[in-house]
Amino acid sequence: MSKKIILSGIQATGKLTLGNYLGAINNWVRMQEEYNCYYMIANLHSLTVRNEPEELKNNTLKILALYIAAGLNPEKNTIFIQSQVKEHAELGWILDCYTYMGELSRMTQFKDKSQKHADNINAGLFTYPALMAADILLYKADLVPVGEDQRQHLEITRDLAERFNKLYGETFVIPEAYVRKESARIMGLQDPTSKMSKSATNLNDVIFLEDEPEVILKKFKKAVTDSENIVKFDPETKPGVSNLMQIYASITNKTMEEIEKEFEGSGYGNFKTTVAEAVINTLKPIQEKYKMILNDKEYLEKIYIDGANRARELASKTLNEVKEKIGIL
Ligand code: TRP
Repeated sequence: MSKKIILSGIQATGKLTLGNYLGAINNWVRMQEEYNCYYMIANLHSLTVRNEPEELKNNTLKILALYIAAGLNPEKNTIFIQSQVKEHAELGWILDCYTYMGELSRMTQFKDKSQKHADNINAGLFTYPALMAADILLYKADLVPVGEDQRQHLEITRDLAERFNKLYGETFVIPEAYVRKESARIMGLQDPTSKMSKSATNLNDVIFLEDEPEVILKKFKKAVTDSENIVKFDPETKPGVSNLMQIYASITNKTMEEIEKEFEGSGYGNFKTTVAEAVINTLKPIQEKYKMILNDKEYLEKIYIDGANRARELASKTLNEVKEKIGIL
């Protein structure tokens, strides 16, 4: 039996965070043996907010370097940049024409982002999910590892695929969201009730994958907890402590019970330092490799050109099938 296909991606806007690593990339690394994986950098989606052109370019390469430094093998996986496989934009447009305004209006990400960027509520922000559907459907992906916040976009992707198949016959595979419970949501260190976000205004809220060890330690020491001084997993009443436990658990693979035992009677000071050290030690080899790779522009270029060529093989096949069916010459 052939391997199941996985596709996922991260937007090229902003710096990657510990949340991106523990919630996404780290899991992708685990899946690379078992599945046929496509991992992309969604730089077209980044255009839905304003970017400095140089910065967008650099961020795209930085994410690519981090994918590899974190352990994604460019030979085993197809790693590519969205804009370099033109089929994404083309199928994106086609799917726009099969997506209803009403469906798009219900997207919580659209509502959130329109609030955040009230001066730039552009059409791309609105049709974002149709382009994301194109990303997924082009590769006939079976599984799409995403965070909880992307579930709604996966639902609309499934609806679009079903709609198209019903109209024109079996074309797309109906993809499933693959949300890993334990590590799906790393929350902010200052506001543990919302997801750790690269666009946080309070920099102490987020650990960037490029942060130096001293910075990481400082941020963990400042992390918001509560006044109980008991390390216990209870996201409802102890969101801060539970988030730190979550981070520690995804790094050490320990259960919440084991972690509670480990820090019984020890207080938050020691707990925070231990979590910080675990994070620092996990990131250290990745950061070293990252710096090396990022300096080797030729290597990076080779990887993304190779990746795009491989991705295009499957993407163009699917797109041709679609065009044939809808009567586009
Ligand atoms: N929208 C996703 C996010 O912000 C990124 C993304 C773009 C994506 N295309 C995708 C994720 C396709 C999975 C599959 O996290």
